[in-house]
Amino acid sequence: MKVTRAVAGTAIAAALLLTLNPTSAVAAADTGLRDAAKHTGVRIGTAVDMAAFNADTTYRDAINREFNSVVAENVMKWGEIEKERGVLNFAAADQLVDSARANGQQVRGHTLLWHNQLPGWLTAGVTSGEIDAAELRQILKRHVFEVAGHFRGRIVAWDVVNEIIDDNAQLRDTIFLRLLGPGYIADMFRWAHQADPKAKLYLNDYNVEGINAKSTAYYDLVKQLKADRVPVHGFGIQGHLGVQYPFPNNVLDNVRRFEKLGLDTAFTEVDVRMPMPPDATKLQAQAYAYSALLQACLLAQRCVSFTVWGFTDKYSWVPGVFNGQGAANLLDENFIPKLAYDAVKTTFTLGGR
Ligand code: XIL
Repeated sequence: MKVTRAVAGTAIAAALLLTLNPTSAVAAADTGLRDAAKHTGVRIGTAVDMAAFNADTTYRDAINREFNSVVAENVMKWGEIEKERGVLNFAAADQLVDSARANGQQVRGHTLLWHNQLPGWLTAGVTSGEIDAAELRQILKRHVFEVAGHFRGRIVAWDVVNEIIDDNAQLRDTIFLRLLGPGYIADMFRWAHQADPKAKLYLNDYNVEGINAKSTAYYDLVKQLKADRVPVHGFGIQGHLGVQYPFPNNVLDNVRRFEKLGLDTAFTEVDVRMPMPPDATKLQAQAYAYSALLQACLLAQRCVSFTVWGFTDKYSWVPGVFNGQGAANLLDENFIPKLAYDAVKTTFTLGGR
């Protein structure tokens, strides 16, 4: 107010006021989500499709304008890095990590172990019996040291194990569980910690937003790992939702119970799909869901980041996987912000710690 009164009266002073008045300065520059998020201490992230990144400058510019954290949508997965046994290809992943550093973004690592997108030689070798349990354990250990070791010091958090509990809340039946037994989980964390001692090490899964049998199975697993002094540091909640399903129960309580075990938390793959075509009601429900997940993150104590699984409907994984569904992201296929974008931005603006 003092400034306003002092400079009132001349055109020059009025122009000066525009540059000095913090409110009009923020309103004048459309600053993107990362600026809205900054004061909260919660990082806003996106998964990055490296094919789009290299082909589409609108896409690339938006990543750097909107996000201060990135994760590879595919290029850090085992099947992408080691298509041929013993031949490692880090080119695309390195490109992302280098770009992140140049643009002031943190990098989440996704993922050291998943039952999908494994190298063909690995699954074929296990199926044929050519790779036995002892060899699988050696291969897995080497994989962790090679990949986490390659990026050592450049990854803030690794999804060490991804989707290891199934929809019946049991340890997922994978080649790893079958051949190595449940001890592979602790092994993964111990190896990852040796390979990159500063990275925060996460479990990550879907359908664990609220309190339910699956998230409780994770809760019990983490308790056991902690009791066994396994270096586990974070719980990643993917956040793949759909407007046609009820919003998950007690998300904030769920986040808090993991924090009480001494973990950081993160929303790691948020998108909110809908049966096509979109309409105003679905878009509003979508905005609500994005905002409600983000509110839980902001209201919790140790939720460090909120990552969306892609930000434009132009490159979403949803239509290819969920028949008849789509429009899951914050921007439409022409990069026009949807209601959900504004909701996320406002929630960050209002929220704090
Ligand atoms: C998806 C990618 O988005 C697709 O491009 C790919 O074809 C399959 O994987 N949970 C995860 C992610 O942890 O790695 C998945 O990403 C989406 C579900």
